[in-house]
Amino acid sequence: MNREVPPPIGPYGSLTALAPMQDVTNLPFMQVIHHYGDPDYYFTEYFRVHAHSRLDPHILRSITENDTGRPVFAQMIGESIPDLLRTARALGDYPIAGIDLNMGCPAPKIYKKNCGGGLLRDVAKIDNVLGALRESVPGLFTVKMRIGFDSTENFASILGLIDKHEVDLLSLHARTVRQGYRGEAHYSFVKQAVESVRCPVLANGNILSAGRAVRVAADTGCRGLMVGRHAIRNPWIFRQIREAFAGIPVFRPTLGDARDYIDRLYRTTRTGECPEVAHVGKMKKYLNFLGQGVDPEGRFLFEMRRTRTETELFAVCDRHLLADPGAFFADEPYEGVLARPNCEGPVAEGAVRA
Ligand SMILES: Cc1cc2nc3c(=O)[nH]c(=O)nc-3n(C[C@H](O)[C@H](O)[C@H](O)COP(=O)(O)O)c2cc1C
Repeated sequence: MNREVPPPIGPYGSLTALAPMQDVTNLPFMQVIHHYGDPDYYFTEYFRVHAHSRLDPHILRSITENDTGRPVFAQMIGESIPDLLRTARALGDYPIAGIDLNMGCPAPKIYKKNCGGGLLRDVAKIDNVLGALRESVPGLFTVKMRIGFDSTENFASILGLIDKHEVDLLSLHARTVRQGYRGEAHYSFVKQAVESVRCPVLANGNILSAGRAVRVAADTGCRGLMVGRHAIRNPWIFRQIREAFAGIPVFRPTLGDARDYIDRLYRTTRTGECPEVAHVGKMKKYLNFLGQGVDPEGRFLFEMRRTRTETELFAVCDRHLLADPGAFFADEPYEGVLARPNCEGPVAEGAVRA
């Protein structure tokens, strides 16, 4: 591994990355995204690190069988320095672009152990962890973090440590841990990071569309955009971002294109041993996001969530997506149509409670 951040693909300025998402950004999902337009970088979902941890073979596949042609960073989550070093060494035996440390996960079972977002409460610990990893990782060492735990009081000090330990790339989810996935992303903190650290900064959080990507890049000066849930809803988003930055017409998918995407997702993410009902259940996790772009009333989401079999699921898809297949798939989620009510935010007046 060398320590140059790989350049963006093509002549366009900004970098793009698919955000790591547990149980989502595995090899089959990466292959689906590859079909519609790769980001410049992929990140694995996190490898858990503790005294007895071993590299999860399922996550390893997204490295060893990565056939997208794009680099993949291996993400770790943990707080024990000897175990993080042991895991980073083990990951170094595989064809990774670099090692990424998760300092943002908001799940209570994670942060209560001072892992993920929990680390943001302890600046001295971050100093030790980053110092130890920097010394032992020979190639790229990157960090993905939030702007704070329940306040942003440590933010400036943590940026100082990102610089002190020569982190090679910072992906910044512009929310606190307490915010979870709700509410606005605070991009002014991305700007602050860009102005404080020497490494490239990727802005993350609510990059809903290519238009939003261009605005956030202009407002913050960030080197690129990292996209998570909105790439599940709209797998064309990386291609669209590149087109928007290049100033050429941005591809507009239709409902018919979205129907093809569902078909590809269904086939690519199905493993031989997965029973049909379980696979339909898994599909609903993806379609929860996709449904935000189908109809403004959330009828597709309502009906999709009630299906149990492949036949039922595709009948709902055909009814909603093939009645007028040339109609445009919404560029941004329809207002009030939530992917997961109760989890994504307070249910606004008129929001869909499917
Ligand atoms: C289902 C799901 C799983 C996630 N898993 C991870 C993870 O393994 N590592 C990580 O750093 N962030 C994880 N995240 C956070 C995302 O990488 C990203 O920071 C967050 O979703 C905000 O970006 P978005 O608005 O583009 O989705 C996860 C998010 C979701 C929705």
